[in-house]
Amino acid sequence: MSAYEELKLHLSSQKYVWLITGVAGFIGSNLLETLLSLDQQVVGLDNFATGHRHNLEQVRSLVTQEQWTRFQFLEGDIRSLDDCNHACSNIDFVLHQAALGSVPRSIEDPISTNSTNIDGFLNMLVAARAANVRNFVYAASSSTYGDHPGLPKIEDKIGKPLSPYAVTKLVNEQYADVFSRVYGFRSIGLRYFNIFGQRQDPGGAYAAVIPKWISAMIRNEPVYVNGDGETSRDFCYISNAIQANLLAATTTNSDAANQVYNIAVGDRTTLNELLEEIRISLVNKFPHLLNFKPVYRDFREGDVRHSLANIEKARNFLGYEPTHRIGQGLAEAIDWYVNNVN
Ligand SMILES: NC(=O)c1ccc[n+]([C@@H]2O[C@H](COP(=O)([O-])OP(=O)(O)OC[C@H]3O[C@@H](n4cnc5c(N)ncnc54)[C@H](O)[C@@H]3O)[C@@H](O)[C@H]2O)c1
Repeated sequence: MSAYEELKLHLSSQKYVWLITGVAGFIGSNLLETLLSLDQQVVGLDNFATGHRHNLEQVRSLVTQEQWTRFQFLEGDIRSLDDCNHACSNIDFVLHQAALGSVPRSIEDPISTNSTNIDGFLNMLVAARAANVRNFVYAASSSTYGDHPGLPKIEDKIGKPLSPYAVTKLVNEQYADVFSRVYGFRSIGLRYFNIFGQRQDPGGAYAAVIPKWISAMIRNEPVYVNGDGETSRDFCYISNAIQANLLAATTTNSDAANQVYNIAVGDRTTLNELLEEIRISLVNKFPHLLNFKPVYRDFREGDVRHSLANIEKARNFLGYEPTHRIGQGLAEAIDWYVNNVN
C-alpha cells in the first residue's frame, strides 16, 4: 500500500482540524474538497483577492451535507494578524496557500505581492506558532530556482530570483527556516511546479497557461505562446499536490520536518507539446481546432527557460508518489473545463 493510501486509511478513523488559507482559490478549494471527502474538519480563510465564492459552492455540491457542516469559512486577510490568530485557533495542521501568484503581476505591482506574500506569510507563522499547531505546510515555488542552470532541479541548488514573486517565495522559505532554528517551530515547504487542474482560474490577465489555453481553444479565441514554444515545464496535476500536502502535514518522520520539497512529476513538456496534447483532447468536441494555429510572440520577462524537478527528496522523506502524469491530469482537467467554460 502506498504511503498516501495508508494515510487516507488513518484519516478515516482519526479526525483532525485543518486550516486552509487561500481556500477559495484553485489549490485551496481542491484541498478542501479532498479533506471534507475524508470527513475531516476544516477551517478556511480567504479574502477573495483572486479566489472565488463559486469555487466554494462547487465543493459544496461535491461533498455530502454532513461533510459540508464540518467546514467553517472565515472571510479575512492574512495581512491582518488578528485574522490569522483567529483562523489558527485550535488547529492541528495548517496548509498555507494564500498568496498573490503570478510573476507578471509581481513585476507590475511588487508592493501588493510583497505585502501578501511576505507580511501575510510572517503573520501566519506568528499566529500558527502562538496557536501551537502540530505542523505548518506552506506553498513554496519552483520560481525559487531562479537563474540556476542545473536540470533537473535539486532542492539545495538554487540561483538568484528572477522576479519580485520569486523573491517573496524565497523569503518564505528563509522565514520558515529561521522560525525552526529560533523557536523550534515545525514547518514544511512544498515547491510546486506548474500545478494544474479543475478550478484553476482561466480568466484575467494573470491566468496560468493551461487553463488560459484550454478556455481560449474552447472559445475559438487566439492562443498566444510566449517565445518559440520550446520553453519547457514540469506540469503537475492537482491530485499530486494534494497528496503532497496531506503527507507533509501528517508526517511522523522527524527528519522530514523543516525542509522544502519539489512537488512535480519529474517529466518535462515543452509548450508546443502541451498545445498539441490539449488540441488533440479537444478536437473531437470542437472541430474548429482541426485548423488550429497558435500565435507566437516575445518571450516574457522573468520567465525561466526550462524547469524540471528531481522529486526523490519528497519520495524518500514523505513517501510522495505522483499518481497522475500530464496526460492523465489533462484528461480530467479538460473534462472540467469543457463543462465549466462557456
Ligand atoms: N498554481 C501553481 O502552479 C503554483 C505554483 C507555485 C506556487 N503556487 C502557490 O500556491 C498557492 C496557491 O496558488 P493557486 O494557484 O491556488 O492560486 P489562487 O490565486 O487560485 O489561490 C490563492 C488564494 O489566496 C487568496 N488570497 C490572496 N491574498 C490573500 C490575502 N491577503 N488574505 C487571504 N487570502 C488571500 C486568494 O483569494 C485565492 O483564493 C500560492 O501560494 C501560490 O503562490 C502555485
